[in-house]
Amino acid sequence: MAAKSTISEVKHHVGQEVRIGCWLNNKRSSGKIQFLQLRDGSGYIQAVVVKSEVSEDVWNDAKSLTQESSLYVTGIVREDERSQSGFELSVTGVEIIQVTTDYPITPKEHGVDFLMDHRHLWLRSTRQRAVLIIRAQIIRSVQQFFDERGFKLVDPPILTPSSCEGTTELFHTKYFEEDAFLTQSGQLYMEAAAMALGKVYSFGPTFRAEKSKTRRHLIEFWMIEPEMAFTDLFESLEVQEQFVSYVVQSVVANCRRELETLERDISKLEKIQAPFPRITYDEAIEYLNANGFEVPWGEDFGAPHETAIAERYEQPVFITHYPTGIKAFYMKPDPNRPEVVLCADMIAPEGYGEIIGGSQRIDDPELMEQRFKEHELSDEAYQWYMDLRKYGTVPHSGFGLGLERTVAWICGLDHVRETIPFPRLLYRLYP
Ligand code: 4AD
Ligand code: MG
Repeated sequence: MAAKSTISEVKHHVGQEVRIGCWLNNKRSSGKIQFLQLRDGSGYIQAVVVKSEVSEDVWNDAKSLTQESSLYVTGIVREDERSQSGFELSVTGVEIIQVTTDYPITPKEHGVDFLMDHRHLWLRSTRQRAVLIIRAQIIRSVQQFFDERGFKLVDPPILTPSSCEGTTELFHTKYFEEDAFLTQSGQLYMEAAAMALGKVYSFGPTFRAEKSKTRRHLIEFWMIEPEMAFTDLFESLEVQEQFVSYVVQSVVANCRRELETLERDISKLEKIQAPFPRITYDEAIEYLNANGFEVPWGEDFGAPHETAIAERYEQPVFITHYPTGIKAFYMKPDPNRPEVVLCADMIAPEGYGEIIGGSQRIDDPELMEQRFKEHELSDEAYQWYMDLRKYGTVPHSGFGLGLERTVAWICGLDHVRETIPFPRLLYRLYP
């Protein structure tokens, strides 16, 4: 009996007969030999069917296979230096599960809308598989980084009674008789968790009803949100640059083949090493206005501004000390200069834009009260958040890394729609 194997495991079965469940990716034939390109999710392998070595049934079954037909293939594993996987299969048997007809995604070029409508099938393509493998590696290394440094994983709620990042982008729903919203960020809850556990991080989905149709915006995206008690902005920046360097290098070390599939310039990623450059908002404005932009002090940066600033560096760059008026209610003002806050955005190189937003949080109860009034946030909904300032308030900081923008940057993709298995975009909820 042939041993059950996967394509990635054939290396343990050289010279033996194995049986693998798989799909036909592609096929070539030269009359007396058929070359089946097979995939099983774990990898790719070429299986060779030689007419003179198999029964007529096996030959004909192999012949009937079309793109994305499903089958069990049986064959002897051979080492083969010329193939990408290093192995080849000499076919002894073919058991068809299903012969597929009219698979919609053919090797020819398809438009983006067509591919997005067939996202459930598009995922099977070599490029999309490479992206998802890198995404999984990024998630694994995120957890490794924080777990190794004494951070505890904490899960904030997804259904919430109030907003975190401004009320205009909230998804509204009903919670029985009450109004509720899908979370935009777990941060406020992570602050409570930091007061209980010291150093914490969350990893979960967040939702923003943003009417933005750009290559950086998703409606549903995943965020990693660390929060640290007794930590100021500058200590937080050090964690951030260590963290991002660690994640990038772990992908370089573990996903070289996938990066090559995506034709990513790996040398650019190899250079990503802490420390990262830092400039203030004021310096950024000065640079932009000296280089063809006209940005008045107090205005937020858009994608072209971020790209112009990032172009000056090979590393991600921190922009710190934004004007208080354009940032979230919870950010702590600079004690020496209250018109700016102790915050930083991390801008990725090569035009990938902001991947991290973070800040030191207001720890003074009076100032927090004042901010609630200024931002017209109801005291009632945020009472628990005020309690964190009332009962043993401490300096604390945190940040949020957008997973999909990070995947886009590391993979070198020009749109976030390919960074998540089933993207939720403006005007797209299918499939
Ligand atoms: O800068 P943001 O809005 O920060 C927060 O939500 C803070 N509460 C985080 C914290 O301090 N705990 O979002 C953080 C990151 C951005 O830098 C970006 O990478 C990503 O989340 N992000 C998006 N990614 C995809 N689509 C969107 N619509 C995004 N909005 C933000
Ligand atoms: Mg931001």
